[in-house]
Amino acid sequence: MPDSYVKIFDTTLRDGEQAPGFSMSAGQKLAMAEALEGLRVDVIEAGFAAASPGDFEGIKAIAEMVKDVTVCSLARCNEGDIRASGEAIKPARSGRIHIFIATSPLHREFKLKMDKDEIVRRAVAGVELARSYTDDVEFSCEDAIRTERDYLKRVVEAAIKAGATTINIPDTVGYTTPEEITDLFRFLTTETEGADDVIFSAHCHDDLGLAVANSLAAVRGGARQVECALNGIGERAGNCAMEEVVMALRTRRDFFGLDTNVRTEGLYGASKLLSAITGQMVPRNKAIVGKNAFAHESGIHQHGVLANRETYEIMKPEHVGVSTDNLVLGKHSGRAALRSRAEKLGFTLSDNQLQSVFVAFKELADAKKEVFDSDIEALVLGEAVGQ
Ligand code: KIV
Ligand code: ZN
Repeated sequence: MPDSYVKIFDTTLRDGEQAPGFSMSAGQKLAMAEALEGLRVDVIEAGFAAASPGDFEGIKAIAEMVKDVTVCSLARCNEGDIRASGEAIKPARSGRIHIFIATSPLHREFKLKMDKDEIVRRAVAGVELARSYTDDVEFSCEDAIRTERDYLKRVVEAAIKAGATTINIPDTVGYTTPEEITDLFRFLTTETEGADDVIFSAHCHDDLGLAVANSLAAVRGGARQVECALNGIGERAGNCAMEEVVMALRTRRDFFGLDTNVRTEGLYGASKLLSAITGQMVPRNKAIVGKNAFAHESGIHQHGVLANRETYEIMKPEHVGVSTDNLVLGKHSGRAALRSRAEKLGFTLSDNQLQSVFVAFKELADAKKEVFDSDIEALVLGEAVGQ
């Protein structure tokens, strides 16, 4: 088990793409896969091979193109799905099959209509068949969080014995809490027979807005793979946001003692690419990749940031690929920010000049939401001409 880092399993192209409004063509998936490889995630879940011929072809094309990242296809625990996944990942230098079956009482009774023993049998048969295609087999207990602990342990042990190399514990409906999931991962990683031979993985959904917190809590409990999607896209409220979990581990390495291999400087660009491809914008206040994530408009904050960025920034914007000229000038801005922007634009202002430009700037800022560089230039030049 890699003790020193957390693997990033990116599911933007599978769970993310499954959400309404986020479907992508095979060509668009290829472009995203290239960006994900550039980010150096560990695994790209490229799709669900049995879902459609298009998905199958998309996974195959990604498996042919990607060189440095494991390419994965999802499959239910049935022969058709597993064989389709096995064929789709065949061209990959490193290919994984991810098989899943639900284990919770609700899913057993109302969805699968199977008893506990039957589910264990299917899990074992599925893992064994997947192992005939690749040595890298991930097994997921869908709705694991709402599954009885002793039964979950039984299914996980059977899957490990059958040859699974990664065990994923999904919070399929975003129901858990940080304390609960830490405790569950601690239990599974210490009490399960064979636990030392596999990597435990967390897959958290965001129905209660806890997906990132829960994923980090799972890492505290022993998870060494986190499943996530760029911009947090995914079924319903989405999956754990990749950029957030990665930057939380990087920024608070002092606390977690673990990091990922992600090249964080590519996060902003990859997020923008996804937005452009899907036509879905990220909210302005979204952590890490939102337009306001490193923007400061109020005078007090701007003053602090100009003196020392760490006063109001816990990460360096350039470390996630955001340009550093991020002071948004508006009606709350102060003289220090105005002087600094004018200097960046090539104007050195005396105190008197600054004062008169500042008065004109405030009038303009009252009328406009944001004051742009071209406005500042006009104000400074207007002041100069007026003298
Ligand atoms: O949320 C979930 O349970 C899933 C599984 C297929 C891993 O996406
Ligand atoms: Zn999911």
